[in-house]
Amino acid sequence: MGENTLTITDNRTGKQYDLPIENGTIKAMDLRQIKQSEDDFGLMTYDPAFMNTASCKSRITFIDGDKGILEYRGYPIDQLAEKSTYLEVAYLLLNGELPDRAQLSDWTRNITYHTFINESIKKVIDGFHYNAHPMGMFEATLGALSTFYPDAKDIFDKECRQKQIYRLIAKVPTIAAFAYRHRIGMQYAYPDNDLSYEGNFLNMMFKTTELKYQPNAVLERALTVLFILHADHEQNCSTNAMRSIGSAHTDPFSSLAGAAAALYGPLHGGANEMVLRMLREIGSIDKVPEYIKRVKAGEFRLMGFGHRVYKNYDPRARIIKQVADEVFAVTGKDPLLDIALELERIALEDEYFVKRRLYPNVDFYSGIIYQAMSFPVDMFPVLFAIPRTSGWLAQWVELLEDPDQKIARPRQVYLGHRTREYVPIERRKAAESGAVGA
Ligand code: CMC
Repeated sequence: MGENTLTITDNRTGKQYDLPIENGTIKAMDLRQIKQSEDDFGLMTYDPAFMNTASCKSRITFIDGDKGILEYRGYPIDQLAEKSTYLEVAYLLLNGELPDRAQLSDWTRNITYHTFINESIKKVIDGFHYNAHPMGMFEATLGALSTFYPDAKDIFDKECRQKQIYRLIAKVPTIAAFAYRHRIGMQYAYPDNDLSYEGNFLNMMFKTTELKYQPNAVLERALTVLFILHADHEQNCSTNAMRSIGSAHTDPFSSLAGAAAALYGPLHGGANEMVLRMLREIGSIDKVPEYIKRVKAGEFRLMGFGHRVYKNYDPRARIIKQVADEVFAVTGKDPLLDIALELERIALEDEYFVKRRLYPNVDFYSGIIYQAMSFPVDMFPVLFAIPRTSGWLAQWVELLEDPDQKIARPRQVYLGHRTREYVPIERRKAAESGAVGA
């Protein structure tokens, strides 16, 4: 019996099994040999929501949820947020190392070259109803892009894959900004490739009659920090969707549309929008204790609080709080900040939150900053999706190059009826047909 093994005794049969332990895991497939009889399927694990299942080996992002640590390719998030740019971080996530000057200039040039979208894609966006949610338009337009680039199906050709990576990172800000302009009924502002990635996004969002849009340097930098903080977060819900769809060898535009759909949910990237709506609903500091009481009574959740992995302060929330001060120095303070600070103060002292280790997450403060920068609330999930595109793509490439990976296909524990005779409609009783769906 080796040292790095797990011995399991099956009390049904009295048999013992030695399973190898590698990287703190046992292989779920090693359990399959544990059977009661020859025709038994073999043992499986039951793990809804992947609470304790590693679905891949990865070298991209490290999180220690208990200590509140987040690193991209080994670099601490606070150092990247302080010193780097979003495009540099995107390169790091995708290539494993920070670029040197020549690599960065090449990377930036290639992405800048692809910022424009086909004029027909504008027609796709034009087709949406005037009040369509920008995240819905964003997702659908990404899916539509796959029809413009049929070559993207060639996912095992590295050169071709690289081209789609340039296209996607370059075009997501353009699609996002165009969705916003459509929503407010303004003409589209085309990319300005003299500006930085973030500066150009601000240009496409907010340019009006000026001949050349000049982004405010503080707001541009704040957006850089926010983009860096949102770039990747290992196997979260949307990344898992990206990997799951990608495992079917779907093209990256369609896979990314699916990942964006997962991000849209209020428990994931839609939470920043929900935080703002919650703060507006609370309305003033004196209403905070009553609101917390209702959260504790289970009426609803405190949005922007809690995390599957972080059982400590989310390091991204700490950095965002600092950025808030810089942004407010330019835009003026948002009164919702005081409500958020009071919510945080009370929650961090309250036994309900302390016992469950619920701390502010990345979404708690990001919305207040976005609002101060004039982004409408329904753009918040889109602002999350733009930088997360590089993380989704890095995880997708890792998936395609990983010989352990196959098409994602979980098992189930089937508890429904077994084989029975078809019942003609005239012989069915209401109670019976109800039972079928139960
Ligand atoms: N407010 C109140 N109670 C909460 C909250 C919250 N925000 N989050 C978790 N709890 C309670 C929950 O009711 C449960 O209590 P009990 O043990 O008494 O039943 C306990 O804490 C554990 O919750 P859980 O649902 O088992 O935790 P989870 O790991 O499945 O969920 C989460 C993680 C992020 C979905 C959840 O904390 C949540 O719904 N938070 C609010 C939404 C939010 O802010 N999401 C953004 C997450 S960070 C960015 C991202 O991933 O996109």
